[in-house]
Amino acid sequence: MTTFRYAMLNNIAQDGLERLGENFVEVKDAHEAEGILVRSAKMHDMDFSDNLLAVARAGAGVNNIPVKDLAEKGIVVFNTPGANSNAVKELVIAVLILASRNIIDGINWVRAHMDNPDIAAQVEKEKKQFAGTEIKGKKLGVIGLGAIGAKVSKAAVSLGMDVFGFDPFIDAEKALKINKKMNYLTDLDEIYRNCDYITIHVPAMESTKGYIDADAVREMKDGVVILNMARDVLIDENAVLEALDAGKVRYYVSDFPNATVAGHKNCITIPHLGASTEEAEKNCAVMACNELKDYLENGNITNSVNFPNVDAGKCIYDTRVLILHKNIPGMIKKLSHIIGDEGINVAEMTNRSRNGYAVTILDLDSGISEESRETLASIEGVYKIRVIK
Ligand code: MLT
Repeated sequence: MTTFRYAMLNNIAQDGLERLGENFVEVKDAHEAEGILVRSAKMHDMDFSDNLLAVARAGAGVNNIPVKDLAEKGIVVFNTPGANSNAVKELVIAVLILASRNIIDGINWVRAHMDNPDIAAQVEKEKKQFAGTEIKGKKLGVIGLGAIGAKVSKAAVSLGMDVFGFDPFIDAEKALKINKKMNYLTDLDEIYRNCDYITIHVPAMESTKGYIDADAVREMKDGVVILNMARDVLIDENAVLEALDAGKVRYYVSDFPNATVAGHKNCITIPHLGASTEEAEKNCAVMACNELKDYLENGNITNSVNFPNVDAGKCIYDTRVLILHKNIPGMIKKLSHIIGDEGINVAEMTNRSRNGYAVTILDLDSGISEESRETLASIEGVYKIRVIK
């Protein structure tokens, strides 16, 4: 059985690591590893050795990973969509209520008065200053209806909120399947103009930086609460601070404290706890390790953010050749010629493509020579060849 080396850039829950099995060995130096497991370590300035075949992130966001550069080196990047969505949903509901009920100020007041023997009587006199509002009947705008946004929309409906969902990547039919009690909007401005609470759940990418910008904030209803459990770069936080100071935005709740927002009295900042539950950490670790194992052992790809999904099962033939390549015309013909010229029979072929990237798996009745392997690797547009026995 082939042994694979993996490195962990962050702690990964043991339940996940156990999935890897005995043929996986941990190494401390990532340059020696075929697989990297990561949570939030920043990988943009790392250099990657030729040993590396895959990076698996135990989490949904991949903004800490140079996904495109790795694709061009033939390194598959995985994430774990949905594995921590319940944890994030629960935190969104918690902060919706925190931002409505003055609970934090109330708790701080109690702490400041804890030595007062008459605190019980004092509480009844003072508590009016902490009176809040209820979320029932209020309008919640959910931007992004992926695993987290979908769960948030359902939970909010069940708490009596009037939920408005927006996601440019889905249509009305899909939105209905996500939550038939949600109002699906195709115009984001309607969310900005009408909602009392706005929560964002889109991935952080070059194209989504500053998604909620100064114009969006200007458009919003007075007294709006903005919730950001996704990533700080999605919001023009300086515009939000101005709006907080002007009294237009009531609260900005963020899971990403930074120098801009951490000290502001109407920012509720949480130390990136969205996915920090025992359950979510375990779910993410299990999913990430399963993905890494299946790719390293069998070449199958599930939940990659840079290559298409492909599942050819376990190899039941002599040899499996996996080719990661550009999705360009003529590639399959070139690959088949080289294999055919060596007189090898292709027992099965699987090819998948997505967004300019493709994967071809050739299951062969006999092994290929080093020369053919090199010829395959030299085809223009081929990123990586793997031979799996
Ligand atoms: C995510 O992107 O899913 C979370 O940020 C995960 C984490 O907290 O590591």
